Amino acid sequence: MVTYGIIILIAYLLGSIPSGLIIGKLFHGVDIREHGSGNLGGTNSFRVLGKKAGLIVTIADILKGTIAVSLPLIFGSEEIHRLIPGIFAVIGHMYPIFAGFKGGKAVATSGGVLLGYAYPMFFIMLLVFFICLYLTKYVSLASMLAAIVSVIYALIVWDLPLIFVVLILAVFVIYRHRANINRIINKTEPKIKWL
Ligand code: G3P
Repeated sequence: MVTYGIIILIAYLLGSIPSGLIIGKLFHGVDIREHGSGNLGGTNSFRVLGKKAGLIVTIADILKGTIAVSLPLIFGSEEIHRLIPGIFAVIGHMYPIFAGFKGGKAVATSGGVLLGYAYPMFFIMLLVFFICLYLTKYVSLASMLAAIVSVIYALIVWDLPLIFVVLILAVFVIYRHRANINRIINKTEPKIKWL
């Protein structure tokens, strides 16, 4: 039980590491929460800090999810399902204790959870994401579509813990994109120009 609590706490703290804030402040002297969409994730890092920093932040945010689902293996604990710390890493990413509880939109860290738990699924979602991004130029729409398709995928492969967790992650992703959904409807959501 103690190990269970420790793993969840570490996962939350890991998810709370605000990579966008750290990279922005350390290397660009910029708080990305004050620019672009104000989001602390990879997309806004690309937008505000440029491609290199955006890529580093995205990879760091993915790794938080991947490391989180590896924690039960690292601790040699069989009492906790590997996906549970993944959920807590995503909660940390969205509501980081180290950044005033204002974090990202759950996308990259959720992707990291899939990468660590079911990597073929991660690459399929990545493909869905880039096809939608190519067709619509909306990162937010591509993110939400990948989250929804992940639920359909989990239902097809019929992995009950995975169905449960991707359903929660999809709800997180869509909930955190409320403002983007409104902007897409009002046609004011910014489109990417590099694809
Ligand atoms: O991963 C977040 C992305 O889907 C939207 O980010 O900054 O455009 O709101 P942003």
